[in-house]
Amino acid sequence: MKEWTTFDTISKGKGIWLFDSKGNKIIDAVGSMWCNVWGHSNPQLIKAITTQSKQIQHSSLFNLTNEPVEKLAKNLIKISPGMNKVFYSDNGSSAMEIAIKMALQYWKNIGESKKTQIATVENGYHGDTFGAMSVGYVPEFFGKFKKQLFSTIQFPVPNEYRIPKELTFLDYQNNCLEKIEKRFSKKDNIAAFIMESGAQMAGGVIIYPKDFQKKISKLCKKYNILFVLDEIATGFGRLGSMVQYQEQKSIPDIVAYGKMLTGGYMTMAATLASKKIYDSFSGEFYDWKHLFHGHTYTGNPLAAAVSNENIQMYKKYNLIKKIQKTSKIFEKYYQEISNIDIVGDVRHKGMLMGIELVSNKEKKTPIRTKKSINKVFFEEGKNQGVYLRTLGNIVMLVPPLSIQENELEILLSRTIKTIKAAKSKII
Ligand SMILES: Cc1ncc(COP(=O)(O)O)c(C=O)c1O
Repeated sequence: MKEWTTFDTISKGKGIWLFDSKGNKIIDAVGSMWCNVWGHSNPQLIKAITTQSKQIQHSSLFNLTNEPVEKLAKNLIKISPGMNKVFYSDNGSSAMEIAIKMALQYWKNIGESKKTQIATVENGYHGDTFGAMSVGYVPEFFGKFKKQLFSTIQFPVPNEYRIPKELTFLDYQNNCLEKIEKRFSKKDNIAAFIMESGAQMAGGVIIYPKDFQKKISKLCKKYNILFVLDEIATGFGRLGSMVQYQEQKSIPDIVAYGKMLTGGYMTMAATLASKKIYDSFSGEFYDWKHLFHGHTYTGNPLAAAVSNENIQMYKKYNLIKKIQKTSKIFEKYYQEISNIDIVGDVRHKGMLMGIELVSNKEKKTPIRTKKSINKVFFEEGKNQGVYLRTLGNIVMLVPPLSIQENELEILLSRTIKTIKAAKSKII
């Protein structure tokens, strides 16, 4: 942490641009932590917040409800096949805690007390709270808390860039699936399988091969295990579909949304459950089947109002189609990026690109340095007018979803210049 002595102050944002207090402007290549949809200072989103702020700014969802959250629940159910009810929270980690609690309690509620284990995939990420850290264990992030985390059963994810020797990519995928099935069939104590939907983000932009997620969902059905998806970073258009699990043909029992839900303007998340899950919680008062979970700002009307406007704008401006078209600009730059001598792999889907940095292309050795690669890229990026943040040895491009084609070209050219400039500082 000593490398960060001062921080630039962002005082304004407009479209894809962030302006600091000294008057410098940089492209927001990380979409302000992967959540920005329409760029900064969008008048329609601002209006939704200000209009709602004149009615009720916050009132709790304990014993009460409010109009924006009721409308939002309908909107979310409409876009989420198989889902029936919505449970609100105010950040993605909490939404995942809720998903975990729902999944574990479901089995208790229906009288199946032996199903207590959670299965996950290696290098998944679901947030920084204790339950989320347990199910999304990334050793570098959470190693210090290992003893305090609850244990999970982890399975590998096929990574096309690192296929084990002697295997084809298809063999590798089948091996991973076989490991899952073998464990599922051995002992009937798994409550739920939890994974990010479509791709692992923080775990290194690992995009699942076609049908991988679908096959896991089928195994879950076959072995009576709940299938829980995290679409916090990958849903709402980030990978090019409104609802990623629909594209993956894998309907979950529980799914979580966050980040882009409010367009990136306020803090809100939602955990959706199927009717089967919901019904298990609705006994008589004395049955104690409730889900004991709630936060002060659960169902905040300002956040719900801006979410409703955001969802409406996706439809109005055909955002998903636009993302699919604009996303092709990334492909134009694959070759140029791959040719850089410290780039080992370029992975891309929708409005997401991960550029893996290596010190030896042939051996695919990840760059390891005592310096913070993130800091080097932040500084070099700033010199080029782009705000970049790396995760380990991966440069993450996660721009506002509505970025224009010409803007994305500028972002990519500046990223290329940044990688070249950063090289001498990290090798
Ligand atoms: C897939 C995924 N799940 C959950 C979270 C946690 O969300 P939050 O940071 O809002 O708590 C993140 C955050 O990056 C994420 O990428």
